[in-house]
Amino acid sequence: MTKISKLNPTDWKKYKKIRLEALKNEPTAFWASYDEKRLEPDSYWINKMNDVNDTILIEEMDNKVVGLVRVTVNDKEIPPEYAYVGSLYINKEYRGLGISKKLMSAAENYVKQETSLKGIFLEVYKSQESAIMLYNKLGYKIIEKRVKDGVEDLVMVKDL
Ligand SMILES: CC(C)(COP(=O)(O)OP(=O)(O)OC[C@H]1O[C@@H](n2cnc3c(N)ncnc32)[C@H](O)[C@@H]1OP(=O)(O)O)[C@@H](O)C(=O)NCCC(=O)NCCS
Repeated sequence: MTKISKLNPTDWKKYKKIRLEALKNEPTAFWASYDEKRLEPDSYWINKMNDVNDTILIEEMDNKVVGLVRVTVNDKEIPPEYAYVGSLYINKEYRGLGISKKLMSAAENYVKQETSLKGIFLEVYKSQESAIMLYNKLGYKIIEKRVKDGVEDLVMVKDL
């Protein structure tokens, strides 16, 4: 049984578990680090879930959370007409099944239905080749190539 859900604040433990798994297993994929986030108190995770600007979508299979994506609105660091999508992660055992496509589609539907924003803005390290292939396939366009702290990344957008 597979299902995509929007997490509620009371689900903060589910979010903490999959986010820490992602940071631990994919240290080159994200700006945040496992060593830093694993030390955060429970209040950090609870506050994240209560932030009205953040929407956390997860995929559950076999009664466990196997995928995660986060949609953020009102992000001050990106153009105001876009929502930011980040934290995309699928557990290794469940890759290649189309789950990230489903989660990205749910994120896009959320932005279309629940906001009046123009589209989605995301950042991806150049090392994350599978993710770049995914974003290309879904119609995201590279608008900037950057080098941040010696690491190359791409800024991609999609108008919805
Ligand atoms: C990138 C990632 C999210 C893909 O998840 P997934 O559920 O396995 O992807 P899907 O099965 O939905 O595949 C969707 C598309 O992504 C691309 N893709 C996914 N895995 C790929 C791989 N190993 N090689 C090449 N392309 C790949 C393909 O275009 C694929 O479409 P296709 O199957 O029709 O060819 C997953 O590999 C992951 O969690 N990676 C580590 C974390 C990460 O890099 N996150 C992005 C941070 S910005």
